[in-house]
Amino acid sequence: MKYLVTGGLGFIGSNLVDYLLEKGHEIVVVDDLSTGKESYKNPKATYYNYSIADLNLMTELTKGMDGIFHLAAWARLQRSINDPLGTNHANVTGTLTLLQAARVNKVEKFIFSSSSSVYGMQENPIMEETMSTNPLHPYALQKLVGEMYCRLYSKLFGIKTVALRYFNVYGPRQIIDGDYALVIGTFLKQKRENKKMTIYGDGRQTRAYTHVGDVVRANLLAMELSMEKGESEIFNIGTDRETSINEIAKMLGGEVEHIIPNPRGEFEERRKAANYSKALKILGWKPTVTIEEGIKRLLGQKS
Ligand SMILES: NC(=O)c1ccc[n+]([C@@H]2O[C@H](COP(=O)([O-])OP(=O)(O)OC[C@H]3O[C@@H](n4cnc5c(N)ncnc54)[C@H](O)[C@@H]3O)[C@@H](O)[C@H]2O)c1
Repeated sequence: MKYLVTGGLGFIGSNLVDYLLEKGHEIVVVDDLSTGKESYKNPKATYYNYSIADLNLMTELTKGMDGIFHLAAWARLQRSINDPLGTNHANVTGTLTLLQAARVNKVEKFIFSSSSSVYGMQENPIMEETMSTNPLHPYALQKLVGEMYCRLYSKLFGIKTVALRYFNVYGPRQIIDGDYALVIGTFLKQKRENKKMTIYGDGRQTRAYTHVGDVVRANLLAMELSMEKGESEIFNIGTDRETSINEIAKMLGGEVEHIIPNPRGEFEERRKAANYSKALKILGWKPTVTIEEGIKRLLGQKS
C-alpha cells in the first residue's frame, strides 16, 4: 500500500516509517524538520520538507495515497502554553488541512496521533475512551479538536478515521530536551552528562509508559482495521501499568534531585494509566514491552 506519514522524521514517526517499510509498504513522508532529524531518514522512503498547513502542497502529496498516518505536531505541552497560536496552527490547522486534502483526493483512511492528555485530570486514574475529556493546556485541547475534526470529516465526507490516544511514549530516538512527557529521555541525558536526575515534585506522579514499538504496531493495526465508510474510532494506546517517576529513576539508576514546589503546578496530572480493552477487542492490540525491558534496551543502546 502507499501511505503518507506526516512527522516521519520525528521520534514516533521515524520508527513508524522504518516499520512500514519493513512490512513492504511504499512510504512518502512530509516533515518540516522543526523537531525532526535528517539523520532519521530511511533511504527507502521519499521525503518532502513542507509544512502540513499548506493546503496546495498537501493536496499534491496526498494524491493516490491509500491512507495517511498523521503524526506531525508541535508535541510539547510547555510550548503550547507559551505559544498557543503557533501550536494551534500546526496542531489544529495542520490536521484540518490534511483532512481537507484527504477529502479532495478521496483518501480512504486517516490515522490521527492523539494524546492521553485530552483526559486531563480525572477522578479515576485509569483512562477509558468513554470518559468525558478535560484538557488542561492548549496542546491537549488542540489534540481534542483534531479528534473532533476527524469524526466530523468521517460523518460529512465518509473518510474512515481513527484517533489513537498515546500515553507516554518512550524508546529509541526519543527527544531528550526538557519536557515532562519525555522524562525518560531527560533522565538519560542527565545521566550521560553525569548530572543528577531532576524530578519535579515528590516523584510519585505516575504515567503509563508505552514503548514506541507498541505504538507503531497500533498504527498499522488501525490502518488495516476494516471499517464502514463514514466510521470513526478512538482508541487508548497505552499500558495499564502505572509507573512513578521515582521508579523510573530507580530503574535507570543514579542520583536524583527533587524540585519542590513542582514548577508544573496545576498542569501536572497526578496519576495516569490506560484501559486498553477497546484496542484489545477491536484492534487486537496490547502492549508487549514492559517498562523494565524497555529501559534495559535503552540503557544497552549506543548514543
Ligand atoms: N511522544 C509522546 O509521548 C506522545 C504522546 C502522545 C501523543 N503524541 C503525538 O505523537 C505524534 C508524534 O510525536 P513525537 O513524540 O514523535 O514528536 P516529534 O516532535 O518527535 O515529532 C513530530 C514531527 O512533526 C514534525 N512537524 C511539526 N510541525 C510540523 C509541520 N507544521 N509540518 C510538517 N512537519 C511538522 C517535526 O519536525 C517532527 O519531526 C505527535 O502528534 C504527538 O502529539 C506523542
